[in-house]
Amino acid sequence: MTIQFSVSTSSRVQASAVGVPVGSDGPVSSKVGLNRKQLSERGFEGRVGQTLVLNGLGGASVVVAIGVGAGNSLTPNDARKAAAAFARAAGKVESLATTLAGVGRGNKANIAQAVVEGIQLATHRYCALKSDKNFASPLREVVLVSTAENAAAISRGVKNGAVVANAVCMARDLANTPPAYLTARHFADKAVEIAAQTGLEITVYNKEELLQMGCGGMIGVNQGSVEPPRMVKLSYNPKGAGKKQHVVLVGKGVMYDSGGISLKPSDPSHAVMKMDMSGAAAVLATMSTLGALKCATRVTAFLMCTDNMPSGSALKLGDVLTMRNGKTVEIHNTDAEGRLILADGLSLAAELKPSAIINIATLTGACLVALGEKVAGVLGTNDKLISQLEDAAARVDEPIWQLPLVKEYRRLLDSTVADMRNIGGPAGGTITAGLFLSEFVGNTPWAHLDIAGPMKVDGDDGWMQRGATAFGTRLLIETVTSFKAV
Ligand code: BES
Ligand code: MN
Ligand code: ZN
Repeated sequence: MTIQFSVSTSSRVQASAVGVPVGSDGPVSSKVGLNRKQLSERGFEGRVGQTLVLNGLGGASVVVAIGVGAGNSLTPNDARKAAAAFARAAGKVESLATTLAGVGRGNKANIAQAVVEGIQLATHRYCALKSDKNFASPLREVVLVSTAENAAAISRGVKNGAVVANAVCMARDLANTPPAYLTARHFADKAVEIAAQTGLEITVYNKEELLQMGCGGMIGVNQGSVEPPRMVKLSYNPKGAGKKQHVVLVGKGVMYDSGGISLKPSDPSHAVMKMDMSGAAAVLATMSTLGALKCATRVTAFLMCTDNMPSGSALKLGDVLTMRNGKTVEIHNTDAEGRLILADGLSLAAELKPSAIINIATLTGACLVALGEKVAGVLGTNDKLISQLEDAAARVDEPIWQLPLVKEYRRLLDSTVADMRNIGGPAGGTITAGLFLSEFVGNTPWAHLDIAGPMKVDGDDGWMQRGATAFGTRLLIETVTSFKAV
């Protein structure tokens, strides 16, 4: 169920829990009922992310002191974190109220947007398959209490925050959905539904069409499966977008990655391979927000959807595939399938001659090893584009770190019989995967996001909930809505 966010300029708001911002310096609001020393005795210093639950005064059932740090300098990232901590500390309640969106000296719309994101993302759960109806958060209503002066900016932020948070929740739900409930066909149906709701142009390509288009990567990876593939093309065409204002997004949509005949072992990491479509989910979610956010850039998306299964008809080692751009690829490991389907998507993207191509994929375990669970890798051919991604990542608190496309490693992809093979050597797997992808983008400025690390978390943490994170969704939204031609 969705949470209703509203803005009120009245201080007499009723809610099950009221969040009162408290800095690590400066005065303490009388609504808290404790002074600085008493707070400190209870271990509350006012740091961002810290909260203290207190018995309410004057009608509120619970008061939560929300740490907002020093010097009234709250940033949107702090606000998201503080809001998530508030929602968690308040527990299972139906309504919240807080003045948090008015804190800090920055743009109040951005703070309010982050507060909405923090609260919704910290309380959202994938509940479709839970019998216990209490598993879902009961939260229905959140009131952001504002001064008259800030109300317009906060209302704008609330509107955008709800659009973004709903998109992230949708992407998380898709990634958390078990593979039998979300095949490539289901995913394409979902995209059709979202496109109709959000005014996007859509074309869905089936197996025969992909074959005719020469998408050998999609056909090859799908070959062992009884479920057919789907490629979804989505277009967002705002009026007045300049020729240099066109971004193409390509998402890896492996509905389930068994590894194919290079079968993965049955360890816990195998069970999360239902999330191997997290890139495609982030792209679909991003596309769903562009109209509502009045994005000025034209955006086209390709969602490359299939599972990767072993069977008598599956792709074999030594087989050679011809990709959409004509390059031939010798298969040395069927578990390196993401790059094969992205090869077709990137080729199609390059044919459109856009200003930039960005792909997002749960591509390599090596990236998880290199950067851990909190940080995504970024590689690419254009430093200005990568800078834009880095700046956007910093603004939305979805950390990314650039890895180099080391040209000398290209020979690791050399094949005896084809233009290249689909894996490199035992080391530098994220880089060789990136080099592989770079073969399909031509001269178009391009960046690749490897989200294998942050695609999921194992426990609730800030604005993230145990399970799929939809990492990259807010990063892509921020990047395309603030895109400058490179
Ligand atoms: N989907 C996986 C990568 C992955 C691993 C994502 C862990 C999330 C968590 C990808 O298709 C894969 O299997 N990659 C192989 C490539 C290797 C065979 C070159 C890998 O990383 O082991
Ligand atoms: Mn794989
Ligand atoms: Zn995969």
